[in-house]
Amino acid sequence: MAAEIIDGKAFAATVREKVAAHVAQLKAQGITPGLAVILVGEDPASEVYVRNKGKQTLEVGMNSFEHKLPADTSEAEVLALIERLNADPAVHGILCQLPVPDHIDEAKVTNAIAPEKDVDGFHISNVGLLATGQKSMVPCTPLGCLMMLRERHSSLSGLNAVVVGRSNIVGKPMAALLLKDSCTVTIAHSRTRDIEALCRQADILVAAVGRPEMITGEWVKPGATVIDVGINRIPAPERGEGKMRLVGDVDFASASAVAGAITPVPGGVGPMTIACLLANTVTACSRINGLEEPEGLTA
Ligand code: GUN
Repeated sequence: MAAEIIDGKAFAATVREKVAAHVAQLKAQGITPGLAVILVGEDPASEVYVRNKGKQTLEVGMNSFEHKLPADTSEAEVLALIERLNADPAVHGILCQLPVPDHIDEAKVTNAIAPEKDVDGFHISNVGLLATGQKSMVPCTPLGCLMMLRERHSSLSGLNAVVVGRSNIVGKPMAALLLKDSCTVTIAHSRTRDIEALCRQADILVAAVGRPEMITGEWVKPGATVIDVGINRIPAPERGEGKMRLVGDVDFASASAVAGAITPVPGGVGPMTIACLLANTVTACSRINGLEEPEGLTA
């Protein structure tokens, strides 16, 4: 039987609706959540992301503060800006778009953001809180994956989860979140032995390796839920000379014939990331003001 397709675009729209409802509640109490985004340099892909973030932030009723800095901005200037944003009561979330130019230390910038305003969840304090199962700000992409998994499964407890990929942004926090929800978790990576057989034992298979269509149907346990975090551009000569298309880390055609449910690329995890950034901003704003957190928008 063909897998259920998990519609990330529709899911993200429901997340944004919940965020907007909570923003309206906060505004009724005289608080408008604000998200500050810092972009250093002119990377075209980053500019598109930042523009989308700003647009969606305004659409849910929050304030958006964009700080676009030239590529030759010094590290000290970026750190000084973060200091100002940390102290600004109108700002509840701060994100510095990565990658930053080579002369700026990414870890220094990430760890300069006040942990309670760290809507990316990359600050070392938030990483440690999540790793020890405590309340923290959670990275947006794994949070989006978790929301989709919780929607599909009434309980994740006791399920076998395999996360393919060990990045700090997706693989490691994803594993921590699944463990917190009582899955039996394995992180697989490029050195894992017999990775195919390991994946075939997974009730939940999360692919976050950045290798186009690496995971085929033969790797998938019948009925498993497959979450594809990959976004890879590959040549598509069938569409014409020089044309490209987007694919995930999962070979959708073969995997969807075996899985119980699967996220497509595009239209799966991708749209959830910015929706979760908005969710994190409203969560941060509620926590900073000592108010109740929005329901269903946190880990
Ligand atoms: N660049 C690509 N993805 C991300 C993200 O999730 N957060 C930040 N800050 N930069 C990114």
